[in-house]
Amino acid sequence: MDAKDRLRLYLEQRRDLGEGELVLDSMSVDDVLKAIGAIGKGTVMPSSTPKGGWREVLAAEGAVAEASPDVGAIKVSSQSAIEVAATETLNTIAAEIRSCTRCPLYKTATRGVPGSGSPTARLVCIGEGPGASEDEQGVPFVGAAGELLTNILGAVNLSRDEVFITNVVKHRPPGNRNPAPDEIEACMPYLLRELDLIQPKVIVAFGNFAAQTLLNTKDGVGKLRGQVHRYRGIPVIVTYHPAALLRNPSWKRPTWEDVQLARRILDSATGP
Ligand code: URA
Ligand code: URA
Repeated sequence: MDAKDRLRLYLEQRRDLGEGELVLDSMSVDDVLKAIGAIGKGTVMPSSTPKGGWREVLAAEGAVAEASPDVGAIKVSSQSAIEVAATETLNTIAAEIRSCTRCPLYKTATRGVPGSGSPTARLVCIGEGPGASEDEQGVPFVGAAGELLTNILGAVNLSRDEVFITNVVKHRPPGNRNPAPDEIEACMPYLLRELDLIQPKVIVAFGNFAAQTLLNTKDGVGKLRGQVHRYRGIPVIVTYHPAALLRNPSWKRPTWEDVQLARRILDSATGP
């Protein structure tokens, strides 16, 4: 993915979050997208947060590939826009998550729980959503499931500090109920921004929600594990959720195999 593609993804995500007014050298987000070829040549892009949200962004990506962008036109503007894009940091995202009211979960949660770890992580872990301990501390995977996750990572020589750990939804669903589709939809842009910023070499999706959300499928972990999936070109390994392992220890062995597969992908990946 080159700088222009990253810029486009960034802008699409900002727009998905409702920031249609983001001004880049007096250009609107749509203008910039148009200029870098993400819109146009018959491609109809949603003008505000689309119904279907991030899924439409993915669809738009397919359209982009066909549109064969004319880059030359906006060299100067896209340069400064890239600088603006570079100011996006995990701290910015975290602050937005902490003050987020995009779905009702913030009303019952104590606090938002942004992803945590290294901004240059080569491996990202995705869980479902904060539980009671996470809600209390504002950090993902710090309860019993988190302790197991730490051990799982340790088994393949990874520390929590060198990876990035995050969730599909950033506020705790009351009583640890499953996140609802509209809550996932509302929260998805944060996960996309985290992933786009970090650009990991491999993603491990822990449990059905992470896997199904990221891969846009209804298949469960049992079916999805043991293969290398892709999310925007990034290899995705699906495995059981640590909390599920606490209930069903016979899933530990397959989980260990899955994280070893993730480790091998890491080891064979080139670049930082
Ligand atoms: N379970 C999750 O899915 N995420 C957490 O952060 C903690 C428990
Ligand atoms: N069922 C669960 O409850 N959790 C998983 O991770 C997979 C299947």
